[in-house]
Amino acid sequence: SSAVSPAGDLTSQILQALDQASPLLSTEAFPAAGFVELKAALDRLASRDMVRYDTLEREEALLEPEGEQIAANGSHEARVFEALRTAVEGLTVQELEKAIGDKNVVKIGQGKAFKEKWISKTKDGKFKAASDSIQDVTQEQMQTIQKTRTYPNAKILADLKKRKLIRMQKIISFKIHKSAHFALAIPEEATDLTADMITSGAWKTATFKPYNFKALGADQQAGALHPLNKVRSELRQIFFEMGFEEMSTDKFVESAFWNFDALFVPQQHPARDLQDTFYVSDPKLADKPRAESAEDTKDYEAYWKNVQAVHQDGKYGSIGYRYPWSGDETQKLVLRTHTTAISANMLHKLASQKGPDGRPPPARYFSIDRVFRNETVDATHLAEFHQVEGVIADYNLTLGGLMEFMDIFFGKMGITDLRYKPAYNPYTEPSMEIFSYHKGLGKLVEIGNSGMFRPEMLEAMGLPKDMRVFGWGLSLERPTMIKYGISNIRELLGHKVDLNFVQNNPAVRLDKV
Ligand code: PHE
Repeated sequence: SSAVSPAGDLTSQILQALDQASPLLSTEAFPAAGFVELKAALDRLASRDMVRYDTLEREEALLEPEGEQIAANGSHEARVFEALRTAVEGLTVQELEKAIGDKNVVKIGQGKAFKEKWISKTKDGKFKAASDSIQDVTQEQMQTIQKTRTYPNAKILADLKKRKLIRMQKIISFKIHKSAHFALAIPEEATDLTADMITSGAWKTATFKPYNFKALGADQQAGALHPLNKVRSELRQIFFEMGFEEMSTDKFVESAFWNFDALFVPQQHPARDLQDTFYVSDPKLADKPRAESAEDTKDYEAYWKNVQAVHQDGKYGSIGYRYPWSGDETQKLVLRTHTTAISANMLHKLASQKGPDGRPPPARYFSIDRVFRNETVDATHLAEFHQVEGVIADYNLTLGGLMEFMDIFFGKMGITDLRYKPAYNPYTEPSMEIFSYHKGLGKLVEIGNSGMFRPEMLEAMGLPKDMRVFGWGLSLERPTMIKYGISNIRELLGHKVDLNFVQNNPAVRLDKV
């Protein structure tokens, strides 16, 4: 039969060698073959039951550079003795060093030579030989090991290793035997059963290549989701499960109107200050709020006037802030400081929708995207982060309802035992910071901010008085850092992120309750 293995390739070398003698040892028969290639060739033959093999492991002793030196030139102490043997008058340290040409050999060698009583000191402090001849056992040991790669006495071997003259190395070899289907060449193998083989009958005598069920396939260089994106997709799932609609968050730049004024944030509020807010210098001003599509028939001019009135003079039963409201201030462009700017825009649109009863229908919106704040960058703060935000609009909602909802929402993220602390937001009343007990840190940590949106904000939009809206916000970074055990935000975001970290991290699963 015809053979496929080219003459000289490793599989055929193995078959030829086995034909002469079986079993054989790979280290003797193929001393130059690489381990990986040899094992691949053996596996190829073994899978066809042409050979079988055992794997043998043993340790070999190899000389370290110092051991090599001793094998070649003698031990340090022997070299010291050798230099002194012919110097009848004895030598000073300096002379000895010059004769040997290696200070280190003299330093170590003379001490040992004294111990062996090979040398002694003259009255005037010189070194001299104290014997006619010596036996350099260490050199003999090194030479034996160099030749045989081992030494008959295990205790000496261990001792030489401790003295760093030798090191031990694992050697793997194979004991190879002929097996049932042994032949001098691998028979030609068909990889497929073809129509031709069936019609010609060749299939009856053909040898089929066995399947390799152990083949792993090539490594895939696939893309990887950033940890923030993984946690984000878990959170999106929670929102969708709870009937939320995702808000479009494609505007990093907003007008101060939507970011602040629509939210009843007074124009003198410290958050508007350059310290906290990035203002855009070119272009400086936005258009006044206006419809962005043909379907949007809302009266933006009236809304604008309502916002002015409620800030400046008071309206809807509120006495307002009583300051001269500036239209120009609202047109300033900012990098949005929160996604609540988008919630405001969406709630304003909700006011003109009509449900079955002709009134705005209940709604649940969420978003997860980037916001910007002019903060000092440190281990836990960057000038930007991702805000997770949700709002729920419905008739006659209560604060108790908000708290119950938070229990369910955070419970789905695996965060339980919530605590609330009264807080302040210009756009919510009451406002509450949300805390949870962090077992790792052993204390309560803030996990979010929440509140019932104020009538000053909602009624100016035209939402009915009995429609209540509550909202909350948290950062995406905090739960992600906790999940992935990161303490420095710069390991998560920015130019210092290690791409292997992104590539190798598993998908996150929030423990649901
Ligand atoms: N905008 C708030 C923040 O930046 C979050 C929040 C949203 C609070 C909605 C109350 C209501 O933290």
